Amino acid sequence: MITIAIPKGRLFESTYNLLTKMGYDLGRIKREKRRLIFDFPEYELKIMIVKPMDVVTYVEYGAADLGIAGKDVILENMADVYEPLDLGFGYCRMVVAEPKEKPQIERVIGLKVATKYPKIAERHYGKKGIPVEIIHLYGSVELAPLTGLSHQIVDLVETGTTLKENNLVEVETIFEVTARLIVNRSSMRLNYKKITSFVNAVKRAL
Ligand code: PRP
Repeated sequence: MITIAIPKGRLFESTYNLLTKMGYDLGRIKREKRRLIFDFPEYELKIMIVKPMDVVTYVEYGAADLGIAGKDVILENMADVYEPLDLGFGYCRMVVAEPKEKPQIERVIGLKVATKYPKIAERHYGKKGIPVEIIHLYGSVELAPLTGLSHQIVDLVETGTTLKENNLVEVETIFEVTARLIVNRSSMRLNYKKITSFVNAVKRAL
């Protein structure tokens, strides 16, 4: 059996379609909506459904052999995992944004930045030598500058609609994000044949 951690949320549908294209009939996952782990003995496969931010943790600790995670989540967790494939889907960008009418470019002292990605934000401003106070939020980060909680945000932008509807503008792109296939380092060594054949099957389906 190999165990794969797949993310709920935005990447779920593309991940499900990819696995279907690889020939796996995983209909049960959609029917049993609250179940978190599924055995598919016919494919020697176990599938775990986890929060996107947790995929790398399951893979890094070896609770899952493989996982599908956004580059944002991989960088935030600084995970020590093998990353053999860029899956190409789930494209978005990690950006710095701020209110249209209150640019912070000149403000380098006391800058407050709200984000769901504290480590990425810390590293970004650190590289620039800008001291910041990072405010860790768990969602709807765009609200922070509108309410005076922060001056800027570091967050993902996909279509740009959320920024636009909240009168925020991008200041810069930190990096581009796509979904990646990740593999636990010991599983890769101990289960080399099965894992490489799975990785090759993913490549073919892509
Ligand atoms: C993400 C992200 C932005 C939004 C960007 O949030 O954090 O808020 O999507 O998408 P857009 O550019 O297409 O508008 P998500 O929907 O995951 O919700 P959350 O803020 O509650 O985490």
